Amino acid sequence: MRDIKIFDTTLRDGEQSPGFSMSLGQKLRVARALAELQVDIIEAGFPAASPGDFESVAEVARQIEGPTIAALCRTVPKDIERAAAALEPAGKARIHTFIATSPIHRKEKLAMSRAEVLKNAVDGVTLARSFCEDVEFSAEDAIRTERQFLAEVLQAAIEAGAGTVNIPDTVGYSTPREMFDLFGWLKQNVPGIDDVVISTHCHNDLGLAVANSLAAVEAGAGQIECALNGIGERAGNCALEEVVMALRTRSGHFDCKTDVDSRKLHMASHLLAAVTGNFVPRNKAIVGENAFAHEAGIHQHGMLASPETYEIMKPEDVGVRDSQLVLGKHSGKHAVSDRAREMGFTLEPGELDEVMRRFKELADRKKRVFDSDLEAIITGNQAGTIGPWSLQWLSVVSRVNGEEDPTASVTLANEDGTTATETGEGDGPVDAIVHALEGITGMEIEVLNLAMRSISLGEDAQGESNMRARVNGKEYSGHGLSTDIVAACAEALLEIINRASRQADRGDAEPAQSNAA
Ligand code: KIV
Ligand code: ZN
Repeated sequence: MRDIKIFDTTLRDGEQSPGFSMSLGQKLRVARALAELQVDIIEAGFPAASPGDFESVAEVARQIEGPTIAALCRTVPKDIERAAAALEPAGKARIHTFIATSPIHRKEKLAMSRAEVLKNAVDGVTLARSFCEDVEFSAEDAIRTERQFLAEVLQAAIEAGAGTVNIPDTVGYSTPREMFDLFGWLKQNVPGIDDVVISTHCHNDLGLAVANSLAAVEAGAGQIECALNGIGERAGNCALEEVVMALRTRSGHFDCKTDVDSRKLHMASHLLAAVTGNFVPRNKAIVGENAFAHEAGIHQHGMLASPETYEIMKPEDVGVRDSQLVLGKHSGKHAVSDRAREMGFTLEPGELDEVMRRFKELADRKKRVFDSDLEAIITGNQAGTIGPWSLQWLSVVSRVNGEEDPTASVTLANEDGTTATETGEGDGPVDAIVHALEGITGMEIEVLNLAMRSISLGEDAQGESNMRARVNGKEYSGHGLSTDIVAACAEALLEIINRASRQADRGDAEPAQSNAA
């Protein structure tokens, strides 16, 4: 069986897309989950894009062991030098340098001739190799590049020392048959290509990213670039969990395997969702809530007779447990940490204490605590930012057809030992909380997006709130969890103001959106 390398770009292509930006702490959380998943390469960012990106790549390189850490850069010398500097602490480092090769990009974006693009590619790879043994070259918009020219550029990059050549479908335009044909053609027409790893990087504009990546593999690609939950520019990238499970479930067909520990897929996907404040859709392949649910009577009957009637994968293969009923208020630390481990989470000792505190609080209010409750506590805790403010008291009055507006009274405690109380009015209870928080913190808060869902079952089910808001002109995300949905919104807002306070303290901005590719 052929080994396929999994190159994860959640923290680069994924993070640069709107609504998915992450703070440094959040990136490190996701990077740890990726290392636990055993991906081969983590693309940690684009160091030349901003000081925040540089710092994130350097910190991931310093703290994450196991996978190779890659940094993206254009073929421009100062970009390559920044990438090399950010990667200095890495155990295993890769410089990933790229230049666009298609006619439209050459003319409209780069204003370069073919010869200039070719020279830039060679010079970039040569310079990158002077810093790092492991260099990947990408021909951006390769799919729309003239074949002969693409072959020429790839050959030159290989001769200059690239060990991996990436053929991206930057605009998500290709089809599986075209991919198969192109990769097969390149294998026949690029001297030296058999000595390097051929990589595929597909965008999902036509919903074909996974199918196109698999077609590239069938034609000989040895690396797939992908992202958790398929996040990435526009419609996203090839979804890591889908492509990994396709290769695993149909290994007989593809005759290929990856080193990914598929039992961690659910954990990593849901952690990313909590960190970025974007729920995983219910019907999402592999990691959605419905992926292993069987509602229709005829399906249930078949499942009871034999799970194989309707199930091509076992839920436990992706980290979803059979039994959903978990713990109660008498469950201790061991039971909780064992259950968390079974669900794919590794809890540090300090983290376990905080999860226990929240677990006990919940178990006091709720008869039965389900796996999904525990997962929400853990991912919420891992995604959260500790900041100066905590919620001490909240009282909200909601009115329909009343004379007066809804009101919210909020008391916050500050880490300096003081407390502050304000009452706000608004169009609705959340708006009233926003005004109370503005009164306390002096911040200007504008809610941009609010999504709610209920976790697990029953009338005492928890509500989860994901919110994005602009605070003093910058965007932040927040996540809240409570059996009271208004309190869950208040918690999400609190996380947002804590994040904004921390950044104001550090004097820098929310991670800038790099505009690489
Ligand atoms: O989509 C793309 O072409 C990219 C490259 C920089 C690899 O993201
Ligand atoms: Zn891309």
